[in-house]
Amino acid sequence: MAYIAPSVLSADFAHLGRDLQEMKDAGAKWVHVDVMDGHFVPNISLGGPVVKAIRASTDIIMDVHLMITEPIRYVEEFCKLGADYLTVHVEADTQENTLAAIEKIRALGVKPAISLKPKTPPEAAKPYLDKVDMILVMTVEPGFGGQSFMADMMPKLKQLRAWLDQVNPECKLEVDGGIDRNTAPIVKANGAEVLVSGSSYFKDPDKADYVRVIEA
Ligand code: DX5
Ligand code: ZN
Repeated sequence: MAYIAPSVLSADFAHLGRDLQEMKDAGAKWVHVDVMDGHFVPNISLGGPVVKAIRASTDIIMDVHLMITEPIRYVEEFCKLGADYLTVHVEADTQENTLAAIEKIRALGVKPAISLKPKTPPEAAKPYLDKVDMILVMTVEPGFGGQSFMADMMPKLKQLRAWLDQVNPECKLEVDGGIDRNTAPIVKANGAEVLVSGSSYFKDPDKADYVRVIEA
């Protein structure tokens, strides 16, 4: 079973409540929220107050993707704001601090996840394989919506699925970047279960059909 997680990065921020309701009406069970600090990535997106407002206006699974340096400083805040999944990047801090962040997230009753940028090899996920509930493989350089899908990430996806099947079969694989009606079948064939989609979802005139096709 695959799930779409529409990314609010491409939503109309002046009408976020409307766009969140539209997602739910279209059948989406997840929403993806990108937090960027202008340091780990060259863009600033949104922070705690917006995450809080999203939580207050929808009950679908809130998947918060932290693209921030030393995320351990903020994991407690985002857990308390109502994230269901909280993702930190393995490149954003030391292994020791990333492990501590994962532990902290779990202790707060939230599902921990890690993410890998395109240039990060799958081996970088090894210390965390049995400690997380999801691994997010970036299929674009993080920072901006609307970029082209990187098909060369598929071997990484396959490798991670194979390792997870041995040590943590329940762990989900998520992809983020350039997902649309054409690329969704490719990532699903390589083991992706949660498919983030920003610009293509928001541009599509038939959201319910888009959700159905991405998840099929
Ligand atoms: C990019 C973000 C993505 C973004 C994806 O750094 O992490 O979640 O919203 O956008 P699209 O689907 O347009 O590539
Ligand atoms: Zn994202």
